[in-house]
Amino acid sequence: YDLFLNLIYIFELNFNMNIKKLKEAEIKFGNPLYVYDLSIIENQFKELKNGFRNIKNFKINFAAKSLSNISILKFMKKLGAGLDTVSIEEVKIGLICGFNNEDITFTPNGVSFNEIEEAYNLKVKINLDSLESIKDFSKKYSSYPISIRVNPNILSGGNKNVSVGHDESKFGIPQDYLDEIAEMENKKNIIIEGIHIHTGSDIVELDNFQEAFKKIFLVAKKFKNVKILNFGGGLKIPYFEGDSKTNILNLSNSIKKLINDNSFVTKNNLKIILEPGKFLVGESGYFLTKVNYVKKTPNKVFVQLNSGFNHFIRPIFYDSYHEIINITNPNDKEYEYDVVGYVCEQDNFALKRKISNVRKGDILCFKNAGAYCSSMSSNYNSRIKPAEVCIWKNKLVKIKERENLNNILNGQIDIF
Ligand code: LLP
Repeated sequence: YDLFLNLIYIFELNFNMNIKKLKEAEIKFGNPLYVYDLSIIENQFKELKNGFRNIKNFKINFAAKSLSNISILKFMKKLGAGLDTVSIEEVKIGLICGFNNEDITFTPNGVSFNEIEEAYNLKVKINLDSLESIKDFSKKYSSYPISIRVNPNILSGGNKNVSVGHDESKFGIPQDYLDEIAEMENKKNIIIEGIHIHTGSDIVELDNFQEAFKKIFLVAKKFKNVKILNFGGGLKIPYFEGDSKTNILNLSNSIKKLINDNSFVTKNNLKIILEPGKFLVGESGYFLTKVNYVKKTPNKVFVQLNSGFNHFIRPIFYDSYHEIINITNPNDKEYEYDVVGYVCEQDNFALKRKISNVRKGDILCFKNAGAYCSSMSSNYNSRIKPAEVCIWKNKLVKIKERENLNNILNGQIDIF
């Protein structure tokens, strides 16, 4: 328990130190602004690596979709990560960042066969998630080993929009079809070298993970050339003090136990992969934006921000909770506010949220803005996207320019 309090203390201390840096970042680079503390990414990576040190041949593939800036990807590579990708663009960016082909796994869902062929030509690892695409692949490339993404038929994850492993989900190959794929392998039409399951995001229950893990081993036994077991991502991070998080040691112990019970894993020296996004980068990110107005109505006090769901969609899309700190005035009396964006639609970031006295011009900071914030941003309302900055070795380094009107107009064709 003491250790726990200590950790919270260190965490808070860390954030208080960062408040100074965050203020400095806003003064230097303006707002809205995404800021990433690379030391937090490094610590998360080390915690995972360390938690899995008893598992041989363990590899972390960073889910590029969660934060796809090239400097972040290169930092991941430096740390020793591979890459989990979902589009041919992510594959190409991974190669540009210097990842080896065999350290990039391409797990598309419903893409055209041309895109799969492009990945084949780039010689990255391919992980297919439908019988239909496997059949097409086997007709042309029967000797190129692939992985298969299996639908485990498990409902898990923090929100229905991020639960992807249930039996009505578009993801993964239904287990009923596995015998047919095994038969294709027997006929030498295909080589299955990897089994992959990803059930969802923000999963806290160990049971959900364990159920999926067991299925991976069961499925692997159906195939004779398996070299890779990929356990997906979905590790949960805490969103507020006292919130739950995935226990890494429990996770690695449950995989270790399954490895001990299944001798083929050690005998064939199988590679064990996890592909987290949020766990690695979620907590490293801060989203800073200015208070345009504090608008009072007879029933409410609205904090109107210089941003909207075009820059920060998680609260709207997944009802996700992000702590909000008034970094300009952090220690004043707290009041209740509805924190809203400037998009011409409902974009409520937080309702009835207690925040230290907010005034026009204050800078508010959303925590846990590393994963799926910048990478899911858009130009809706013809708004430009914010700049991105890292805190690294106590310095502020820009990793993406703020957009300008040219970014919006670029490529548009004026026919009049
Ligand atoms: N592997 C696969 C195949 C995935 O589809 C995903 C995420 C991951 C790994 C990484 O999951 P993570 O460890 O980050 O939970 N935009 C949502 C999350 C969508 C996740 C999509 N797939 C959010 O902001 O909560």
